[in-house]
Amino acid sequence: MTLQARRPTFDWEHTPLHWIPDEPYATHANNTLHLLAPVFERGLIALYKEVLPRLKDERLRQELRGFLAQEATHARAHDQVLAWMREHGLETAPFIAACERDWQAFAGDTPPLGVPAEAWLRWRLALAAAGEHLTCVVGHWSVSTDALDRAGADPEMLAMLRWHGAEEVEHRAVTFDVLRAVAGPTAYPLRVAAMVATLPFLAGLWNRAVAYMLANDPLLRGRTFGRRDYQALLERGLAPGRAILEAVARYMHPAFHPDQEGSLELAQGVLAGMTRRPAL
Ligand SMILES: [Fe+2]
Ligand SMILES: [Fe+2]
Repeated sequence: MTLQARRPTFDWEHTPLHWIPDEPYATHANNTLHLLAPVFERGLIALYKEVLPRLKDERLRQELRGFLAQEATHARAHDQVLAWMREHGLETAPFIAACERDWQAFAGDTPPLGVPAEAWLRWRLALAAAGEHLTCVVGHWSVSTDALDRAGADPEMLAMLRWHGAEEVEHRAVTFDVLRAVAGPTAYPLRVAAMVATLPFLAGLWNRAVAYMLANDPLLRGRTFGRRDYQALLERGLAPGRAILEAVARYMHPAFHPDQEGSLELAQGVLAGMTRRPAL
């Protein structure tokens, strides 16, 4: 399978800020993707451009190039959503700047004092593979759930989430295979340790991103949200919830490979529908 970037365009002109009607909490819970993904995706691009020349397997090199093209397109599309949010009075730049700093400390290109460069590079590859496992899980959720449709989610925003989600399923194995190629027998302990570090890191960012948007949303002045809203979100299936923890448990198995995760058939069905859209 050759990975290719599709570059569909989306029209937000008629999309309301609360694009899941009367569901500001669920809207912003899903908007976290627009805030966090570009930071993660740009980090991946810098990392894998560094690693690409070391890979000997031509098929893997080809897949990695396709993966990088897809991630670059995702980051650009999310930036467009952030600009659209800004037009609606929700400015996210301060949060994203803080998120960039956190990412650099967590997985940036400068090794912490005393850590050899090669060990740091392998650790970053393991962190990236853990992150990509989680984006595959969220991606599969977005293409397989009907909860967002039932809640009346805006079709353009839904199409955007599903395009990104489907490509995450499509390229689910690339970072895992690169880790195995570079780290060899140390890939397994590295990936387990990296998942243990990645899950709380991303969960913390997710929480902060939701809280930031709820606090800065111009339509929500004075409204407060809490644990009950989070529980209602999960009960109504408007976020993946438990599926993430189950997927983390699968990832820890020594025989795990991402080809077992999500549904490629479903993802490619979504992507086939995208070709009708004009290109970015
Ligand atoms: Fe992506
Ligand atoms: Fe990805």
